[in-house]
Amino acid sequence: MSVTVGFDVYGTLIDTHGVVSKLQEIVGAKAKEFSQTWRGKQLEYSFRRGLMQNYENFAVCTSHALEYTCRYYKESLTKEEKQNLLDTYRTLPAFKDVKDGLARLKAANYRLFAFSNGSADAVETLLVAAGIRDFFLGVVSTDDLKSFKPNPAVYSHFLRKSGASGSGAWLISSNPFDVIGAISAGMRAAWVQRSKEAIFDPWGIEPTITVRDLGELNDQIVTATQKKT
Ligand code: LAC
Repeated sequence: MSVTVGFDVYGTLIDTHGVVSKLQEIVGAKAKEFSQTWRGKQLEYSFRRGLMQNYENFAVCTSHALEYTCRYYKESLTKEEKQNLLDTYRTLPAFKDVKDGLARLKAANYRLFAFSNGSADAVETLLVAAGIRDFFLGVVSTDDLKSFKPNPAVYSHFLRKSGASGSGAWLISSNPFDVIGAISAGMRAAWVQRSKEAIFDPWGIEPTITVRDLGELNDQIVTATQKKT
């Protein structure tokens, strides 16, 4: 049976810092830092909502995190500016290596899925806008469970919904918390280390493989699969 591969979306396929140029128009030189704080808070809010079992969808986490970030940098954005940024967030660009990497995996007969904290609608919109929707057999969202990564239940949900068999399935993510979540739930996982500065969490749980971009995935998955069987 062909191998099932779930791709994290924000930060792995889609560049969440694609808002930086819009931010430059609004907050000037702080744009990069602003974008990083926004993204960090968005994830923190998803973790906290998951733990508290006080679910609101990922778009709400994004919007609340934007509000926090404006306050943190003492930037009073107008309603329109905030809306404009949130609209930009719905159609962010894919990283440069994504199209070719996905095409290579698809040609090698992998079963590709998008697997995200984002609601299915939001993810569909993003993938279509980035021109990569057709590579995927489907979109699986943690919204189905009203929870977020790295709750172990969402990885089991991915395996069920994608029709995969546990240890044969892979998660591909640039987010170390997601890689650790998937491995802890019995999947294999590739960490996409997009920059040399990116650090993996020192928890003693290592990625099955580490790649610099999606172009390296095919060969490394084949090698790792041969090693383990
Ligand atoms: C996602 C978040 C983790 O797409 O980036 O699931």
